[in-house]
Amino acid sequence: MNKKIKFKNGVECPALGFGTWQLQGEEAERAVKEAIEVGYRHIDTADRYGNHLEVGKAINESGIERSDLFLTTKLWDEDLSGVRVALAVDRFLQELNTEYIDLLLIHWPNQSIPIEETLIAMKACQDTGKVRSVGVSNFTEHHLEDALATGIEFVTNQVEVRPHFNQVALREYCTKNNIVVTGYSSLRAGDMAEPVIVELAEKYRKSPAQIILNWVVSRGMIALPQSTKVERMKENLESLDFSLSKEDLSLIDSVPQEERYNNPSFAEFSY
Ligand SMILES: NC(=O)c1ccc[n+]([C@@H]2O[C@H](COP(=O)([O-])OP(=O)(O)OC[C@H]3O[C@@H](n4cnc5c(N)ncnc54)[C@H](OP(=O)(O)O)[C@@H]3O)[C@@H](O)[C@H]2O)c1
Repeated sequence: MNKKIKFKNGVECPALGFGTWQLQGEEAERAVKEAIEVGYRHIDTADRYGNHLEVGKAINESGIERSDLFLTTKLWDEDLSGVRVALAVDRFLQELNTEYIDLLLIHWPNQSIPIEETLIAMKACQDTGKVRSVGVSNFTEHHLEDALATGIEFVTNQVEVRPHFNQVALREYCTKNNIVVTGYSSLRAGDMAEPVIVELAEKYRKSPAQIILNWVVSRGMIALPQSTKVERMKENLESLDFSLSKEDLSLIDSVPQEERYNNPSFAEFSY
């Protein structure tokens, strides 16, 4: 069972999406095909992942109506100028073999290009129907403030969220500004082994991954589990058919916090 989350522009997005980072070539195509077969209707890719062709092929060969699938991709750093956004989007449509992208994100913030320039160009792609919704990723509160100041609508901020790095302050800021948080890298081994998660898995007779994904979505976020194994794809998709109690959700909120896992040298997390 998948639930939908509504963005501020009225567009609905399946709360569980299938992540494709680090999936390449035949493995990417097979994994996306299997994910669609087991029931995922939301696929998350990025230009940088180098798998647009395979993702597009898997979607086209799935036999699923394009309108029943939600497809997200992301602009890499070199494509954030006004001119480059339009060119990149046209290339993405060709590579993904689709007429539109459901959600186009700025993959990482880059202060050397004015955010207004990038958002105006993304909005132009939305106006022509090539993109349905616009969003950002890896933005801090400060980046979000700059983006909100442009007055151009964006619907989500895709960031790392897991029990040991729960982003509570950034999530509050997003909620206040009607920006849906999409959580990534929620299934780190250390989070699945966290004693509170293991205990709850036993209590609810679910797997640790299911407890974590249920917590992410129960807290109003979109989750993007990734797996190369069909059994785990199913397990992850079946993580929403039970309810964690209020107390147990709070218990997960209160596990010890640690450093973020995804912190490349070009990140602007100190902004
Ligand atoms: N915007 C960004 O900058 C950004 C950054 C990172 C990620 N993302 C997106 O978020 C997606 C998810 O993040 P992620 O790729 O870091 O991976 P993830 O979903 O947090 O974790 C994937 C890992 O967990 C294992 N796994 C999956 N389901 C499991 C289960 N039920 N039980 C035990 N292990 C399980 C997988 O191994 P097996 O394959 O062996 O199952 C894989 O090693 C990415 O694919 C990407 O689409 C975005």
